Amino acid sequence: SAPEKAAALAARKHAGPPVTMLTAYDYPTARLFDEAGIDALLVGDSLGMVVLGYPNTTHVTLEHMLHHVAAVARAKPKALVIGDLSIGTYPDPATALANARKLVEAGAEAVKLEGGLRQASKVRAIVEAGIPVCGHLGMLPQRVLEEGGYRKKGKTPEQSAALLEGAQALVDAGVFAIVLESVVPKTAEWLTSQLAVPTIGIGCGDHTCDGEVAVATDLIGTFPWFVPPFAKPEANLSPQITAAAAAYKARVQNCPALG
Ligand code: KIV
Ligand code: NA
Repeated sequence: SAPEKAAALAARKHAGPPVTMLTAYDYPTARLFDEAGIDALLVGDSLGMVVLGYPNTTHVTLEHMLHHVAAVARAKPKALVIGDLSIGTYPDPATALANARKLVEAGAEAVKLEGGLRQASKVRAIVEAGIPVCGHLGMLPQRVLEEGGYRKKGKTPEQSAALLEGAQALVDAGVFAIVLESVVPKTAEWLTSQLAVPTIGIGCGDHTCDGEVAVATDLIGTFPWFVPPFAKPEANLSPQITAAAAAYKARVQNCPALG
């Protein structure tokens, strides 16, 4: 069951090995990542930027998420499928639960939402309904407009203490894991040591968390126009895609039979 899968991931906090999570937005990528043995596939609202062409994640709707969660779920991955609750879809516990249920009906096995203290009651409502929830703290992309950019978090003792307070509230509300985004390495390490659930880092440095998450297009190099400074590409497929299209064009247009 979905709660059992999420609990097995949570148990990796102590049993190891580190948790591996990648974003996936479509059926083929989900299948390929699942074949590689990735633990969790996040249908992240980064979808809006790296697939749908919006400038940030504030344009993503629940309908977008449902469409792509369904595509990933059709791959029937062994990996845990986590769907992001997009901006504006969790204003209060009842709405958060109703929208989490829609993601589950589309094929998500767990949901993720951004923020700490103010989300605890929403997390609790979703978890009590039997849907596992992943937290997300540090840089919160759904608030990028208010914050005026993507900045590192946990730089001061005050910021770090606030992060711990938010994280503890999420743990008490029942999250099975917490994504930490762009938290400075020392603080990410400290939070990881303090929390009872796995931390899954992105932009937090190497080996500072209980696992890592990466955006698929950053990993495989299919969104060359913006690559975050912390990305560690393992492939650079964009030039191959352009070259394949160019080879196709040359083959079609140079066909002697058609003159
Ligand atoms: O939407 C997303 O890709 C995410 C990850 C960066 C954690 O939330
Ligand atoms: Na996200």
